[in-house]
Order: sequence, then structure tokens, then C-alpha cells
Amino acid sequence: MSQKKFFLVLLVISSVSLLLHHSGHISWTIKAFLGCPSLRPHPSSGLKPKHMSIAFLKTHKTASTTVQNILFRFAERNNLTVALPIQACDHQFCYPRPFSTRFVHPHTIPPRIITSHMRFNRSELCRILPSDTVYVTILREPAAMFESLFSYYNQYCLSFKRVPNGSLETFLDAPWRYYRPGEKDSMYAHNTLTFDLGGEKDHLPTDTAYVRGLIKEVEQVFSLVMIAEYFDESLVLLRHLLSWDLEDVLYVKLNMRTPSSRHSMSAALPARIRAWNSLDAQLYDHFNASLWRQLAALGPGCVGREVRLLRRARDRLVRSCFGGRLPQLRPAAQIRNKELRPWQPSAQVDIVGYDLPPNASRLGGMSQDVCLKLIMPEVQYSRRLLRAQSLRYRKNYPMRAPPPLRPALARHRLPAGSFRDSLNPALTQRPAGAQNRAGRAGRFPRRQLS
Ligand SMILES: *[C@@H]1O[C@H](CO)[C@@H](O)[C@H](O)[C@H]1NC(C)=O
Ligand SMILES: *[C@@H]1O[C@H](CO)[C@@H](O)[C@H](O)[C@H]1NC(C)=O
Ligand SMILES: *[C@@H]1O[C@H](CO)[C@@H](O)[C@H](O)[C@H]1NC(C)=O
Ligand SMILES: *[C@@H]1O[C@H](CO)[C@@H](O)[C@H](O)[C@H]1NC(C)=O
Ligand SMILES: *[C@@H]1O[C@H](CO)[C@@H](O)[C@H](O)[C@H]1NC(C)=O
Repeated sequence: MSQKKFFLVLLVISSVSLLLHHSGHISWTIKAFLGCPSLRPHPSSGLKPKHMSIAFLKTHKTASTTVQNILFRFAERNNLTVALPIQACDHQFCYPRPFSTRFVHPHTIPPRIITSHMRFNRSELCRILPSDTVYVTILREPAAMFESLFSYYNQYCLSFKRVPNGSLETFLDAPWRYYRPGEKDSMYAHNTLTFDLGGEKDHLPTDTAYVRGLIKEVEQVFSLVMIAEYFDESLVLLRHLLSWDLEDVLYVKLNMRTPSSRHSMSAALPARIRAWNSLDAQLYDHFNASLWRQLAALGPGCVGREVRLLRRARDRLVRSCFGGRLPQLRPAAQIRNKELRPWQPSAQVDIVGYDLPPNASRLGGMSQDVCLKLIMPEVQYSRRLLRAQSLRYRKNYPMRAPPPLRPALARHRLPAGSFRDSLNPALTQRPAGAQNRAGRAGRFPRRQLS
């Protein structure tokens, strides 16, 4: 009798441990059977086609590079054209100028996805994007974001550069002593989120009608405003919004600083940063609250479960790429593969990246290409995508292919009446001063990435 019991217990224990061991796979099955009814807006959402037209407004220092990487990889898997900037715009759509279709490389038109840095202009975007485009952006808590901006752009943004000893406290003691609203790169020093969204960074923050109007506009245009502090939860909402698979939103965090580049903040500092960036703070609080309302509507249990699934699937993918281990963050100088070295804003800030193990392709896991793209920094990935899309473009339109050397100017030579002309008359005009900007871009290092 007691022996029977003993074996029964043993059986239960081994079944449970087997279950736990395979929980990654089994939870998929469990999920398929139990599901989360509230997670499915339509009963047939499992069969709903994935949404493919997406405009992601990439804001600065908000984990947006990681979202961009997710979108780049999704576009490649599904053969979607990604709008990319002309060379003169330097990996962003000539930020901080308001977005214009003239900044879009002709080989990447008409696009399904757009995600490089820009200052948002909805009506201009509407001219090249499909009418079913879903708009998404991401915000970050303003105090953390400003500390990041202050350290990242300390050598570019004059408002920061002229602060004695590079002290954030000193800047906040008297911001108007260092900050010049009209100056180059001033958008990094005051209400950057508001500015990126197309708003006025220097608008009187007590003008509640202005802030309400801005919030309303953002609400009307963007189907989802992600929040960097709740990144995985935001990805769950994104996945449901787009009817994507969990595999479509797996990621490795990109473009981060070493901890030593971070500024430790005294208890009083966040409130002072929020007071200085009051428009951003109001935007953030509003959209953080609405994110949590959306999560509550899905049901915290279901969201929690999906976040756990996502993290588990991400760990599996990453381990299969990095030889069974999680990848180690490395300073750029230690990364052997140049394609994987992140851009460094200045000597004071270390942006860290990853390297692939030398034997990655022989590990029997994911293909090396999948792994490479997962950790590829923005600049290199944008360049690769442009090359691939230009090739495809020339194959599809051999008669129309303009010489690839000067895309900004080559558009002149398009035959009249080509589909691009009728689609978008602005493209036949050359951006004012494109030549000058190209010259300037050549002299200065790449910058303003996030
Ligand atoms: C993408 O294009 C390639 C080459 O044309 C093709 O083999 C592949 O099936 C396409 N993939 C999808 C998802 O359409
Ligand atoms: C946005 O684009 C529209 C045209 O599409 C233009 O009329 C407007 O001036 C632009 N806004 C800014 C701030 O440049
Ligand atoms: C800058 O740092 C130096 C040395 O650490 C110090 O003597 C000086 O007072 C600081 N200046 C300001 C404006 O804080
Ligand atoms: C975001 O909103 C949630 C829910 O209201 C709140 O608990 C949390 O503290 C907020 N986060 C930040 C960083 O303000
Ligand atoms: C891959 O290389 C690393 C370091 O070079 C080594 O530690 C590891 O055992 C190798 N793995 C395989 C599967 O060969």
C-alpha cells in the first residue's frame, strides 16, 4: 500500500517536472486550448491576416530603436517595402525638419512601413502611405528620458554643451541661461516628445487648451502609444493591434548605454526635469494612463501570461543565437563584426552592443542571418535594407532605374508620368539645398540617432 503510494507520488513528481521542463512548449498548447477570450477582439482573430501597413514614429531615447528593429525584420520576412531616407538625410528623414515625402528615397516608394526618425507630419505621411496604415509611437518617462538625452547629446546640443562641468543639476538650476529655443539641436533640450510629435516644444505649458488639443490629435492619429517603462506589455498590445504572432515581436534590447554612462539622479531631480519638460510630462501621464486602461481591458491575468510567454520565447531565440547563453553586452570597440558596432555619440557615453559567437552558424539553432539582424544597429541595418530594396526596385523597374549615385538628385531624371510622379508630385522636386546638406553630412559624423 505504502509502496503504491510512493510510486504514485513519484509519478506525480516526474510528470510535474516533465511539464515544467517543457513548459515553454506546453504553455503554447495550453494557451491554444484555454486562450484568453479577452485577448481576442474577434472570435476569429487567430485567422485574421496580419496587418502590414505601419507608421512608427521613432522618438528619441525611448527604446524606439528596438521597435524599429522588430519592424525591419518583419518587413524583410514579409517582403514589405520600408520607406528609407535619401542619403542627404542621413538615416533619418532630415530630422529635425518636419517630415516631407521629398526626404524618402525613390527606391523605397510606395512603402508599407516607415520607422526612421522624423518630425511627425501626418498629412505629408498620408501622401505616400496606404490608407489602412496603423500609426504607433512610443513615449518614455520624461525624467529618465531627459537624463538620457542630456548624456547622449552632451557634445552636440549646445544647450547642454555650454553647461559648466556637464552638470544636469546646473542646467536645471537655470535652464534659460543655457537653452536657446531657435538654436541647432535645441529640440533635445526641451519637450523633445512634443517636438517629435510635431508640436511646439516652447509653447506655454500652462496653456491647457494647447495641451488638450495636442493630446487629442495624438489620440486620433495613433492607434497605440507604447510606453518604454512597460515595453513588453506595450508589445502585447501592439501584437494584438496588428494580429501578429508572438514570434513577430521578439527582440534584443538595442542602443543602450553602459551603467557608468548613466547619471544617478537625486530624489529631487525628476520633479525638476518634469517641470522643465512640462508638455512632455503631461503627454506622458495621459498616455501612460491610457496604456494601463487598455491593459486592464485585456485583463491583467491574460496580459501577464502573454508577457511571460513572450519573455520565454525571446530567451529561447536569443539562446539559440548565442550558443545557449544570453548575449553579453560589449563596448563597441570590443565588437569584432563592424556590422554590429553601434554608433557612439561621444567619448563620454558608451553605447553597448553585441557580438555573435564565431561558431554561431554551427550551433544548430537559428540561421546566422536571423541572429545578425536581431542585434544589428540602426545605421547598418538601414543601409542593408536600402541596398536590398534598391536591388529589388531595379529588378522590377529596369527601364526606370536612375543612376544610384546621387538619389537625391537622380529623381530629376525620372521619366515624366512614371507611377511615382503621379503618386507624389513632390518627388519630382529636389529638396532645397540637398547638395549643401549632402556636403555637410559628409563632413560631420553621423548623429542624432536614438
Ligand atoms: C518574398 O520574396 C521571395 C523572393 O521573391 C519569395 O521567395 C518569398 O516567398 C517571399 N515571401 C513572402 C512572405 O512573400
Ligand atoms: C505638413 O505637411 C503639409 C502638407 O502635406 C504642409 O502643408 C504643412 O505645412 C506641413 N507642416 C509643417 C509643420 O511643415
Ligand atoms: C566644476 O568642477 C570644479 C572641479 O570639480 C569645481 O571647482 C567647480 O566649482 C565646478 N563648477 C561649477 C559651476 O559647478
Ligand atoms: C503609469 O501608470 C500606472 C497606472 O496608473 C502607474 O501605476 C505608474 O506609476 C505610472 N508609471 C509612471 C512611470 O508614471
Ligand atoms: C563556440 O565557441 C565558444 C567560444 O569560442 C565555445 O566556448 C563553445 O564551446 C563553442 N560551441 C560550440 C557548440 O562549438
